[in-house]
Amino acid sequence: MKALVAYYSDTGNTEKLARGIYEGVEQAEKEILPIKEVKNVEGCDIIFCGFPVQSHSVPGKAVAFIKGIPKGKKLAFFATHGSLRGGQLAIQAFYYALSLASKITVLGTFGCRGKVKSGIIDALMNKAEHRSWAIEAQGAVGHPDEGDLEDARAWAGEMIAKARAS
Ligand SMILES: Cc1cc2nc3c(=O)[nH]c(=O)nc-3n(C[C@H](O)[C@H](O)[C@H](O)COP(=O)(O)O)c2cc1C
Repeated sequence: MKALVAYYSDTGNTEKLARGIYEGVEQAEKEILPIKEVKNVEGCDIIFCGFPVQSHSVPGKAVAFIKGIPKGKKLAFFATHGSLRGGQLAIQAFYYALSLASKITVLGTFGCRGKVKSGIIDALMNKAEHRSWAIEAQGAVGHPDEGDLEDARAWAGEMIAKARAS
């Protein structure tokens, strides 16, 4: 079993989560890389693919990576977002990610909050299309925290078990 944890991260939150997921992968060969450094996923049995939610969606660089994953691979998505964990705004981005991977087996998703730079929240608060998540995002300070990482490690273990069983 070989696992790849591939992530895109602008300000470090998704990278931190990726490292938690990497730690949670046990009894498997494993590698962790930013998506721009991934050359080939052919030898991977499971790919964990992570991104920050941006504008309620998946950033373009992560979209391109997901679209390039060959058919027949097993995938698990993870994301950080300023809005509430399990909230509609984050779920919307996962739905989009799932639609991009319609020919790939997606074993699961994991999302948690990630702090948003205060300058960004201030700037977006006055823009109608960003206001709802910008208000929620004020509460994301300190995330991902140890509780998020603990959940992420447990989730990674579940995904590995699913990949072995499928
Ligand atoms: C340009 C931009 C757009 C964002 N849009 C959203 C959004 O629509 N919904 C949300 O919950 N968080 C949004 N965020 C917050 C990020 O998803 C969050 O801070 C994330 O943890 C950043 O991850 P990173 O440090 O890996 O880049 C946005 C952040 C930026 C910079």
